[in-house]
Amino acid sequence: MKILCVSDHIDPLVYSTRLKERYGEVDMVLSAGDLPMEYLGFIASSLNKELYFVFGNHNLKQLHLFKRKRATFPAGDPFPHPALDNYYGSTYLGGKISKTRQGLLIGGLGGSMLYNGDENQFSDFQMYWKVLKLVPRLLWNRLVHGRYLDILLTHAPPRGIHDKPDPCHTGFKSFLWFMRKFKPRFLLHGHIHLYDMNAQRVTVYHQTTVINVYDHYVLTLPGIERKEPATIPQTEESGAAEIEQTEGTDQNLSG
Ligand SMILES: [Fe+2]
Repeated sequence: MKILCVSDHIDPLVYSTRLKERYGEVDMVLSAGDLPMEYLGFIASSLNKELYFVFGNHNLKQLHLFKRKRATFPAGDPFPHPALDNYYGSTYLGGKISKTRQGLLIGGLGGSMLYNGDENQFSDFQMYWKVLKLVPRLLWNRLVHGRYLDILLTHAPPRGIHDKPDPCHTGFKSFLWFMRKFKPRFLLHGHIHLYDMNAQRVTVYHQTTVINVYDHYVLTLPGIERKEPATIPQTEESGAAEIEQTEGTDQNLSG
């Protein structure tokens, strides 16, 4: 199974008429924040694949639409129901956990460390609180699916992993605690721009692989087979027929 991850920067390789040619084989798309919704909409509709996203600390024009006390919808907004699971063809994952069609358990925690008091910035204490709100669903996952979570999608990195010393780019300690307790297979983050493509993107922390998906990154999950459409074999009576399988089933991720 392959996942196209995007974050922080509109990549000309992705924002291209050749997107499907280059990345048509991916099964899902994840965005780790700081990208305009129009870009996500382009990717989701071009690839026709599930896309999950969190907001970062920039490109927050639509963030208010996803808050509990929602502001009024902008006049002429072609997508008037962003609280539903399809906004620009994308599903918001901030503070939530979803089970994807491929059977992956994915949680999202957007935002960055508090540095100038603007929107979607949090202290470590506030992020701990957001993590705690996920605990009931995590316990449910453990009970029902045998694992807490497969992927934690964040904007900011964990403290001390890929982060920087300035307040804006400091990582969250709460993510370290989350990884130790709930052992997601991956933590995918953005926010830390990479100007040298040889810079470190991948670090293993306890049982979690932490990846900076800045720009774009194709993640391969070796334990999960791609779901191909089910086919009905051709018979003399029925002729050729193909049925697309739309329902996902749970996957064993222990491989
Ligand atoms: Fe950011």
